[in-house]
Amino acid sequence: MIPRTIERDGATLRFIDQTLLPERLEVVACTDVDRLARAIRRLEVRGAPALGIAGAYGVALAAMTSTETDYGPFVEDVAKAAAYLRVTRPTAVNLGWGIDRTLAALRATGTVDGAVEAAVREADHIAREDEEVCRALGRNGADLIPDGARVLTHCNAGALACSTWGTALGVVRSAVESGKKVSVTACETRPLLQGARLTAFELHEDGIPARVITDSTAAFLMQRGEIDCVVVGADRITQDAVFNKIGTYMHAVCARYHGIPFYVAAPLSTFDTIHRAADITIEERDEDEIGAFSGKRTVPSGVPCTNFAFDATPLDLVSAIVTEKGVLRPPYGQMQGIFK
Ligand code: MRU
Repeated sequence: MIPRTIERDGATLRFIDQTLLPERLEVVACTDVDRLARAIRRLEVRGAPALGIAGAYGVALAAMTSTETDYGPFVEDVAKAAAYLRVTRPTAVNLGWGIDRTLAALRATGTVDGAVEAAVREADHIAREDEEVCRALGRNGADLIPDGARVLTHCNAGALACSTWGTALGVVRSAVESGKKVSVTACETRPLLQGARLTAFELHEDGIPARVITDSTAAFLMQRGEIDCVVVGADRITQDAVFNKIGTYMHAVCARYHGIPFYVAAPLSTFDTIHRAADITIEERDEDEIGAFSGKRTVPSGVPCTNFAFDATPLDLVSAIVTEKGVLRPPYGQMQGIFK
């Protein structure tokens, strides 16, 4: 198993720089909020649950490094850093969730020392809790995976997207742990190749059979009868849609056409039951991520590229949503109830 994606070591955060994988597994030592914000924007740290942990630790880091000695200005100082971190990636709801939980813990105190301690404790708690949540979610989802299943996944919803274990890959890992034979087809996930670089890396490390395809090969494999189910993660689940890496919607449409179950695996922290899809900002990234490959221009300069990072899959295309509390089935009317 690869090291934890993100961990605290005293006043230092250590995270795997995911932009370097699979070539190099390098752990970055980070001691300030600016460096963490850059890591989130550059996708050194990425994936919804890992962003939740990063947000939480970002608040803890801001608290540990603030030079304010009076409680009021100290809280304002940390809140400013939190606001700066929150906008680094707008679609994944976990980032704001981790930030808000840690800010609330910090605000429930009345002294600077107490606030620093509370923020660090809450962020550590969020990081530890993530593993328990992924393991529970994995166990719940494993029952959906038949022995011998050929699973298609998109992007990386594995250990690297969480503290460890993963959501979609957590389901696969739990199925394998329970004795089932499972193989995974990982869509490469243009343009940043999280599927090819990260999902394939993790599965290979664990000895789980895997292959990589171009995103556009998925429908063809479904048509050939080579895919038994699709399992993906999520960045946000609203009342009517699942937001996940761009290309997910395409797989859901194709899976429905071919009668293949389409499963989403996500912790409750990824649910946003107050919003609808139309309310959500979809992150648009630099067009150079599409316009150039391996440092070489592939699109004529002057021709614009549109680079949406996520899409929204309507809930009626989703066969089930696997959470740590159980498996939700259509029509998802019980979504609010799961939080009770
Ligand atoms: O842009 P990324 O790499 O952060 O996108 C990540 C995804 O889309 C994942 O599928 C999602 O965050 C779920 S991770 C458990």
